[in-house]
Amino acid sequence: MTLWEGRFSSGPSSELMSFTESLSFDKVLWREDIRGSKAHVRGLIHSGIISSDDGEALLDGLDKITAEFEDDRFVFLESDEDIHSAIERRLTELLGDVGAKLHTGRSRNDQIATDMRMFSKRVIAEVGTQVVSLCEVFLEIARSAKDSYLPGYTHTQRAQPILLSHHLLAHGWAFLRDLDRLAATYRRLDVSPLGAGALGGSTLPLDPDFVASELGFSARFANSVDVVSDRDFVAEILFDIALLGVHLSRVGEEFILWSTEEFGFVRLDDAYSTGSSLLPHKKNADIAELARGKTGRLVGNLMALLTTLKGLPLSYNRDLQEDKEGLFDSVKQVSLALKAVRGMIATSSFDFGRMKSFADSEYLVAVDLAEFLVKGGMPFRKAHSLVGSLVRDSIERRVPLYELVSAHPLLGAEASLLLEPASAIRRRITPGGSGQEAVASQLSEFSGLLDQQ
Ligand code: ARG
Repeated sequence: MTLWEGRFSSGPSSELMSFTESLSFDKVLWREDIRGSKAHVRGLIHSGIISSDDGEALLDGLDKITAEFEDDRFVFLESDEDIHSAIERRLTELLGDVGAKLHTGRSRNDQIATDMRMFSKRVIAEVGTQVVSLCEVFLEIARSAKDSYLPGYTHTQRAQPILLSHHLLAHGWAFLRDLDRLAATYRRLDVSPLGAGALGGSTLPLDPDFVASELGFSARFANSVDVVSDRDFVAEILFDIALLGVHLSRVGEEFILWSTEEFGFVRLDDAYSTGSSLLPHKKNADIAELARGKTGRLVGNLMALLTTLKGLPLSYNRDLQEDKEGLFDSVKQVSLALKAVRGMIATSSFDFGRMKSFADSEYLVAVDLAEFLVKGGMPFRKAHSLVGSLVRDSIERRVPLYELVSAHPLLGAEASLLLEPASAIRRRITPGGSGQEAVASQLSEFSGLLDQQ
């Protein structure tokens, strides 16, 4: 039996059913669908559209169906097209004609938009909690790194010594922005579509404000045509998750590099790395590689939905059913990635000595020598060029930079002290930079913001 049989002389073909059904993937929405239906029933009672006896029976039937899902007893039929038709079909089996009153004043168009918004609110909160927990790990390690430093890189070439805590928090800030984006998306999507009907509202005295507040939405729709067509919120979540995935991918890439023998900055815990089926000595960073690899599909899911939406006239079109699989997939994959990457980082051990030995290169403080000359009045471009030629000399003649600096009339003994290991970090004085003081206040700012999440 279909939801539209009155107008049709025959039932749907099997090709139509297997091509258009969404039950195989939208059953995950059963909780939201029942919650939405219960609010709709309360709305029908509240507006006097159905009697409270009928309403109570419907609510009771929906509770029974909830129990069936919870105990894994709910039986789907071949003819169930999607989660909405399955639940309504079951309710009518349980209640007869009273069950057939559930859909009064409602369309699957406003129903599915409502379910998707409820689902989105739930998963944004869940993903957000995992991002917070990842940020906590970055903060914890940043704190325990104390004064450890490493070479900071630009173009993957050693650039300047920076504190490890500063480097780790650089990832942390990106994830805090992800949280901020998810929160903004949540605020925008927190609107109830129920009461929009198929697209134009109803002749029945429905009260969309009432059901909106029953469902914990902060507002009802302003335009019924818009709200059944609008999937901006799904696109926004897919973007937020894609960018979050890009950030995880960059962390992953770094851990892949850092755990190589060539870098040797980090050792992964055995429980968070894999071996080789052939090469007995191998230890691979598969979590980091998949955090990088799976980001491709997160970006792909966003592109797929945007492409689906771009040609759609108003209002509801069946194409909109394509909003689901990508969203479910992105949410699942990013949650798995967040948990695995968190565990990988939390259990890694950092080789502070090795990082330090790479950062203690004279060349990494060359810019400090130029700034020494600037303080003496030399224009920066000139100072840059002077120090650059000393570096070239030192490399070509294999003479330590220290000797050339000490012997130089404009630099000398005072400037040569700048080349002392670890001294560069102590000299950084700009806010937001890699000096100890700036990083200490950054740590407390970061942890304060994290506490507010
Ligand atoms: N399963 C559909 C979806 O996910 C809802 C069905 C709406 N179908 C319709 N003919 N109005 O979008």
